[in-house]
Amino acid sequence: MKEVQSEKFVLQNVAFLGRTFKQLCDLFNIQEIKSFEGKKVLDCPGGPSGLNKYFKDHQIHCVSVDPLYNLDIEDASKIGKRDVDLCDTSLYADEICKRLVSFDFFKESHNARQVFIEDFELGKAEGRYVVGHLPKLSFKDKSFDIVLSANLLFLYAPKSVGGISADENTPLNYQWHLDSILELMRLAKQEVRIGGCAHFYSSFYENRLELHPWTKRIIDELHGRKIKTELVKTPEHAHRKVETYMLRIIL
Ligand SMILES: C[S@@+](CC[C@H](N)C(=O)[O-])C[C@H]1O[C@@H](n2cnc3c(N)ncnc32)[C@H](O)[C@@H]1O
Repeated sequence: MKEVQSEKFVLQNVAFLGRTFKQLCDLFNIQEIKSFEGKKVLDCPGGPSGLNKYFKDHQIHCVSVDPLYNLDIEDASKIGKRDVDLCDTSLYADEICKRLVSFDFFKESHNARQVFIEDFELGKAEGRYVVGHLPKLSFKDKSFDIVLSANLLFLYAPKSVGGISADENTPLNYQWHLDSILELMRLAKQEVRIGGCAHFYSSFYENRLELHPWTKRIIDELHGRKIKTELVKTPEHAHRKVETYMLRIIL
């Protein structure tokens, strides 16, 4: 059968799709939850993931921020399911991607959302799920010890630079990335970890790991400001074979 060179997987909007705590701990290279004991953590974007609940279960104070935390529980559940199903169908319709996407990934995402939904109302009341959006958040300087951010920055850059945004004029342009990272740094005392810094098309279409070009630019920008960074290869659970990069910004 003739192989159809796909148009490449893209999304019109940022998906309200969350990962399990295990997937996110791997992505952020959190090997021992003990290393987070006594820390205040910011997770932005939080999405419908299992991370906040996991931290709570381990008595770690974590605030997750996402624009869609303004939804009520029914809509959050509905939109979350719709977005996972949309990504699932689109990726599997893509001849190249479907060979490399992990079969369990979307099932796990539905599980993660279930954990999130069960925790959502209590978490909102406890101030653990907060409405907000980058590049400007409402917290005071150095409100957190560690700031985590996964699967928004770099991943939703335009397709032409290795992200999955269909919109080449998305507001998530390079300046937005720089402003957002400086904002996350403003809020952290110790470090910022950004998970998922791979060039999407190198990993899914060429099956190799390449750093996102804007991650390289950001690192150069930060080094110019004498700020230390580290790149760590971490598991990418959506992909069966290739890992991703996690960028640590050490303050
Ligand atoms: C793919 S999810 C990632 C969620 C979570 N970090 C994870 O990896 O499981 C992307 C999230 O970014 C949120 N988002 C979209 N625009 C945003 C912005 N400007 N600032 C913060 N979050 C945003 C979306 O609502 C969505 O929940």
